[in-house]
Amino acid sequence: MSYANSKIPESAQTGVHEGLAERVLRHARAPFRKPYADYNRVALADSLVGWNGSDPVILDAGCGVGHSTIQLARANPGHWVIGVDQSADRLARRKPYPDALLPTNMVLVRADLVDYWRLLHESGVRLDRHYVLYPNPWPKIGHLARRWHAHPVFPYLPRLGGRFECRTNWRVYIEEMTAALALLRGHTFEWATFEPDRPISPFERKYRDSGQTLFRLEADFDRDPADADTDSTITNTLDRQ
Ligand SMILES: C[S@@+](CC[C@H](N)C(=O)[O-])C[C@H]1O[C@@H](n2cnc3c(N)ncnc32)[C@H](O)[C@@H]1O
Repeated sequence: MSYANSKIPESAQTGVHEGLAERVLRHARAPFRKPYADYNRVALADSLVGWNGSDPVILDAGCGVGHSTIQLARANPGHWVIGVDQSADRLARRKPYPDALLPTNMVLVRADLVDYWRLLHESGVRLDRHYVLYPNPWPKIGHLARRWHAHPVFPYLPRLGGRFECRTNWRVYIEEMTAALALLRGHTFEWATFEPDRPISPFERKYRDSGQTLFRLEADFDRDPADADTDSTITNTLDRQ
């Protein structure tokens, strides 16, 4: 696939998956008990070692080669910015930025977000901003469980607080995530299309330069009480089903 010729995910699925609501509500009710891998505990510690404990924190979840993390750190010098990706290879490819040119208010760590998000929540750190930029769409109908909003870790994202933003080039993905958040929080959220003047990440640049429509969901997780996704919200939502 050549640059600026990238494709919108092809899928037989054209709207919100019929199994989404059942999954989201099941995950919200049942604690996710998958044991943590040691390397993710180390990654959490590494990601906080340079933080002064008081600057607001931005998480760039699934940061790929880290260009978005670098942009966010430059644009927000008073924040501590953490880029997390599971791919050591991608993290190592943060060309053309040698270490000496990286902002000092950021860190890139290799971790599995399935553990990292839960460990961050357990550590008590609250986020000021939280980005999930161009997550893998997993567009096949049978791949629903691999999309973040249908994964058992998803209820932990709102618990981390802050202003949350997800961007994607697949409309179904943003529709589903918006629906999943509404189920968890008990009120509606809005998604919108947008046109980036200055792309924040390599995937955004590639999709923009291919002329694709981009979708964005913004949510303020500090707007609701911290425990909005408690039993009463879930029970009310189930009662309405
Ligand atoms: C499509 S890329 C987008 C990268 C970057 N955000 C961008 O916009 O250019 C998705 C990224 O999510 C990362 N990722 C997927 N699953 C992950 C997981 N469980 N934990 C950490 N990173 C993950 C992948 O390694 C990949 O770099």
